[in-house]
Amino acid sequence: MTGNSTHKLILLALAFSGFIANSESLPNLYPFPDAAGQLETYKIRNQPIDLTGPFFQSLGTNGRSCGSCHRPAQGWSISPHELKLRFDLTQGLDPIFRANDGSNCDHNIDTSTVQGRRKAYGLLLNKGLIRIEIRVPETAEFDVMNVANPYGCSDSSWLQRFFDAVHVPASSACDQPTGTKHCHVGWT
Ligand code: HEC
Repeated sequence: MTGNSTHKLILLALAFSGFIANSESLPNLYPFPDAAGQLETYKIRNQPIDLTGPFFQSLGTNGRSCGSCHRPAQGWSISPHELKLRFDLTQGLDPIFRANDGSNCDHNIDTSTVQGRRKAYGLLLNKGLIRIEIRVPETAEFDVMNVANPYGCSDSSWLQRFFDAVHVPASSACDQPTGTKHCHVGWT
């Protein structure tokens, strides 16, 4: 399927599921169409999914909820297609577009214009990646001698890692709580 028809399908999916945006719950096994077929979530005892719960509430200060990065219509992850659409609909101001971990690097970037934001959030927009920085542990049996990071952030005391929102073991970003600058959820 071409990118263009995928885009149309996503628009259709958004239109089709428009009532959900205003709804307080998602019917069980609600079929979200996507390029590969359709996505459904099963909740035990055949209950609807409560969209007012903490998962969908903005709990921090930067406007994000868990649902910013874990979308029912995207198999509880995020996808570049949906992110591009979200970027276009919000001019890149949706809370997922935040520099603490949504941008390719968190300094020497310009997020004051749409064009600047499109560049600053390139890895998120084009690959669906979130940046997670982990300090090189005191006990590391290696030294980082040099960092050549094409996106900036070439700091040898922090390891920059990029994750998508489902395909990495949940423990990976938070398994060193004291050394983790942004532990997974991305709130400032
Ligand atoms: C800024 C985006 C972002 C936000 C906000 C976010 N997550 Fe995640 N989530 C990720 C990324 C990226 C991963 C994969 C990296 C990892 O394992 O840490 C992930 C992984 C997970 C996983 C593991 C999924 C798997 O299949 O292994 C769970 C569970 C999860 N998140 C729950 C939550 C909850 C609960 C919240 C709200 C408190 C939340 N997330 C908020 C980006 C986010």
